[in-house]
Amino acid sequence: MSAPAHRFDLWSPEARVDPLSIYARMRRETRVARVLSPTQQVPMWVVSRYRDTQELLKDARFIKDRYKLADEDRLRYFRVEEIGQIDKHMLNADPPVHTRLRSLVSQAFTMRRVEALRPRITAITQRLLEAFPPGGSVDLLEAFAFPLPLTVIAELLGVPLEDQDRFREWTTTLLSPPRSSNLEPLRKTVVQFQQYLQDFLDRRRAEPQDDLTSALLAAEEQGDRLTPVELTSMVFLLLVAGHETTVNLVTNGVWALLKHPDQLERLRGEPSLIESAVEEMLRYCGPVRHTTSRFALEDTEFLGQVIPAGQMIMASLLSANHDPEQFAEPERFDITRTPNRHLSFGVGIHFCLGAPLSRLEAMIAINLLVQRLPRLRLAVEPSTLRWRTGLLIHGLERLPVAF
Ligand code: HEM
Repeated sequence: MSAPAHRFDLWSPEARVDPLSIYARMRRETRVARVLSPTQQVPMWVVSRYRDTQELLKDARFIKDRYKLADEDRLRYFRVEEIGQIDKHMLNADPPVHTRLRSLVSQAFTMRRVEALRPRITAITQRLLEAFPPGGSVDLLEAFAFPLPLTVIAELLGVPLEDQDRFREWTTTLLSPPRSSNLEPLRKTVVQFQQYLQDFLDRRRAEPQDDLTSALLAAEEQGDRLTPVELTSMVFLLLVAGHETTVNLVTNGVWALLKHPDQLERLRGEPSLIESAVEEMLRYCGPVRHTTSRFALEDTEFLGQVIPAGQMIMASLLSANHDPEQFAEPERFDITRTPNRHLSFGVGIHFCLGAPLSRLEAMIAINLLVQRLPRLRLAVEPSTLRWRTGLLIHGLERLPVAF
């Protein structure tokens, strides 16, 4: 079977204004599309239908641990060697390592533990809303959606909040790197982030506190449960996954409400709809565009296509969530949609650990926002809004609103 030509440019200027059209064509025309990665333009494979996404995420022939690949295959996709200091985390691991790493933190993110954070999340949200200039306008991403989840995860981990501008810059460079062959900015970011985490861990080791990082340090000291690199990687993963996605759930969710004023009014009149409204935001404009990467260890036939050994494959969750085979009228944004079995948190053993936390944050944030600001509206022409580049995140660059 020969490789199909690249018929889908996921990173064209048109796709940045309207990413959904290209996936609609992909779902119709093929089951596994060959595309080029956004930065280094290396071939990779994308699954776009709902059922095929479920199948890929449950297929253990596709591995997550990239260190099982030949070095040249790994470096084709992850060009910066230094990343090895922060990427030994559960999302890049297969069982049994995955099972060990996940079980170390799973208790901290259960529904019950997360529910206990409700008063604190509400207080942070209220404080952010009170800081809005009266009668003015703000970039909602900057002033609201970004600081809320970052504050929550930083407090859980014990990471100093005054360093938030640095996390943001580093995370953006790592998740939406510019299309360039110059690897220096990426390398510099990885080294700075790793050094920062190392210093933070050293301080915590000397003076443990009542936070998740101190509990993880205790596990590391027991020897066989967590290596030093795994510890740094765990804190890195939780810090990045714990805010970047929820930022975009809140921003995209408010964007969807502003685009559909009837749904916004409905939610304002009936705040108890927030639970199904957040599920519909996750489906309609969820923050994860593609899953993280999986790899074929050997030539692997999948959905009628051979994925060559060492190549990368992903599923588009954005596309799966708009598959008309699964969702009636998928382009309709309906905050009461039932059933709504979206795939925004993934499928299988890597199902999002933070799902209860991000759901709770989004419910509190969006309900308080729409209740407090009855005149909330977009402050720019909708056509001027741009979606970020990058494989992973489906997020707007900014969301200027007036109120
Ligand atoms: C709306 C917000 C969020 C979305 C849409 C989301 C989505 C996802 C998805 C799709 C995966 C699986 C990726 C794959 O299989 O390739 C995942 C994994 C993960 N997420 Fe989230 N996430 C969100 C928020 C969070 C938060 C707040 C945390 C904080 C703890 C978190 C921590 C994780 C971790 C640790 C994993 C890896 C789980 C594993 O490998 O077993 N996420 N997330």
